[in-house]
Amino acid sequence: MGGTVDLSVDIGGMRLRNPVMTASGTCGYGEELAPYMDLRRLGAIVVKGLSLKPRPGNPPPRMTEVPSGLINSIGLQNIGVEAFVRDKLPSLMDLGVPVIANIFGEDVEEYCLLARRLDGSGVAAIELNISCPNVKKGGMEFGRIPEEAHDLVREVRRATGLPIITKLSPNVRDIKEMAMAVEEAGTDAISLINTIPAMAIDVERRRPRLSSIIGGLSGPAIRPIAVRMVWEAYQAVKVPIIGVGGIMGASDALEFVIAGACAVQIGTATFIDPAVCEKVLKGIEEYMDRHGIRRFVDLIGSLEVS
Ligand code: SIN
Repeated sequence: MGGTVDLSVDIGGMRLRNPVMTASGTCGYGEELAPYMDLRRLGAIVVKGLSLKPRPGNPPPRMTEVPSGLINSIGLQNIGVEAFVRDKLPSLMDLGVPVIANIFGEDVEEYCLLARRLDGSGVAAIELNISCPNVKKGGMEFGRIPEEAHDLVREVRRATGLPIITKLSPNVRDIKEMAMAVEEAGTDAISLINTIPAMAIDVERRRPRLSSIIGGLSGPAIRPIAVRMVWEAYQAVKVPIIGVGGIMGASDALEFVIAGACAVQIGTATFIDPAVCEKVLKGIEEYMDRHGIRRFVDLIGSLEVS
């Protein structure tokens, strides 16, 4: 069956050639990975979170490695939506791969302005970041409370015709409740999870390793939590779920898919191997071949529990 498997998947009206995407914030605006892999092989490219105005982010140090993961506190550094549309989007669109713009704002109005600005720009969808743990204002206020998340998604839904993916935080009482709230408000898909607040200390200097003291933990350390949350959300909602969190190889990605994700995003692993997305895709193809599965969509939520 080699080479004949159908990897395509539909997410909120977007047709993806395959289910492997970059995760927001881990490859800038795509070009950082270009020397290492053929970006046209990706199912979609998700870019670093965009705000209305450029942001310098937090002061360094803002990344530190820990066992099985990475703690970051970038502080949502980005070039701003205008520079993105003008300077980055045209060459990304030339790749022929759907570009998903991750956006965040300090209030509902800002999210709506961003969504409106991106409508018709060429991006295939927007991903609402309501889950960044690293700034005082910038999403997380919406990501903790189901009613707030609901109202934000409802307003953005009114502001744009683009497919909306809402990126959920793991730092909530009940992920099912959050997933249902944003589904009810009209999100087309959900991505989960963002990072988990964490801290590391340089014991010789007795100082925090990050200037912001606390940052967000990503990488394999959080994968079992992310898989559990995808599984729980899959029981609760009908909208497509995109699994994110510590995917290092194809079998990790397959865990998410079998738990209910229709696609995956890969981030921290690209710091170790910038070509990891291509390898994950190849590994999924090999797995399908080995198991006689012709259509990728038949794998979604195929966990056997009895
Ligand atoms: C950051 O820029 O601080 C990370 C973004 C996020 O976790 O959403």
